[in-house]
Amino acid sequence: MRVLGIESTCDETGLALVEDGVCVLEEVLRSQVEDHAPWHGVVPELAARSHFEHIQTLYMSMISGTSNAYDAIAVSVRPGLLGSLLVGRTFAETLGVITGRPVCGVDHLEAHLYSVQMEHTVPYPYLGLLVSGGHTLIARCLSPTSYEYLGTTLDDSVGEAFDKVAKMLGMPYPGGPHIENQARDGDRTRFAFPRTALSAKDPQRATCFSFSGLKTAVYYLLKSHADADPGFIRDVCASFQEAALESLMTPLAHCVSQTGIRRVVICGGVAANSRLREILSQLDVDCYAPSPSRCSDQGIMIAGQGYHVLQRMLENREKDITVSPTSRIELAKP
Ligand code: KG4
Ligand code: ZN
Repeated sequence: MRVLGIESTCDETGLALVEDGVCVLEEVLRSQVEDHAPWHGVVPELAARSHFEHIQTLYMSMISGTSNAYDAIAVSVRPGLLGSLLVGRTFAETLGVITGRPVCGVDHLEAHLYSVQMEHTVPYPYLGLLVSGGHTLIARCLSPTSYEYLGTTLDDSVGEAFDKVAKMLGMPYPGGPHIENQARDGDRTRFAFPRTALSAKDPQRATCFSFSGLKTAVYYLLKSHADADPGFIRDVCASFQEAALESLMTPLAHCVSQTGIRRVVICGGVAANSRLREILSQLDVDCYAPSPSRCSDQGIMIAGQGYHVLQRMLENREKDITVSPTSRIELAKP
């Protein structure tokens, strides 16, 4: 089955044609990074407008160059920015009516957590650590269409922390790759930034994350060092990156010990960070990750996950989009 996948939850307009949930036939992707860069973060109104302006041209450019027809349409319907979600969903539903193809709604988080299966065969169950600009969470992944959320962030996402610290240092948005570059030649032990471990204060939240304290610690350090030289900046980046990435490990280790699941998949934009991959390799787990270019938002993962959602829909004789565009997740016990 060939599925057209459509992604427009945040600041990437992505479309792809994927066969049987794994084989990528075509892809187009337009990032809005330049549109949002002056504001150092995504502006929801601009994002929706930009998806609206470009989605049809992207679709036409992908379809006109291919003889690959498609059997069904999958569109990300949650969670995300409401205006951006509406553009993708309306486009998908309209295409469904025009082409007579079924349309299914895909959960963007589930698509990230599934995406690794398009490059590696990872046996179920596994723990998924989703680390992006919009999300930081741990999920128990039971099958391509069955996920339980064990922990999430109580304030900023880890990607947001990278972006905000980069902004304090005068680096462009998105800041993650710039911090990683500077950190390569920095001393990660020079500044003892806090590693959050919520379990010390509240065992109920041992599977959750918090990055606001770390961000504030960097802010006050920079405030007291007005005359920052390049060596100082490199050391701040390396020390911050180490603290941010190590803060992911305590809740993850807790979930591993509570569930007994020793397979871990990382995904989302921050999963492209090579130091994260090194730190994870020190944990006693089998670790898998999509290739760095597949960690961030694109239509490929929506088409891949959509294939499985469609199979379930066909088996259960469900009809059409059934998922509502809300952004809340419910936490399960580990
Ligand atoms: O998944 P993504 O492309 O978009 C969503 O937020 O859904 O993630 C973008 C986030 C940004 O916060 C960006 O700074 C961060 O991922 N990021 C990184 C790296 N590459 C992207 N953070 C740390 N190191 C990186 N190499
Ligand atoms: Zn995403």
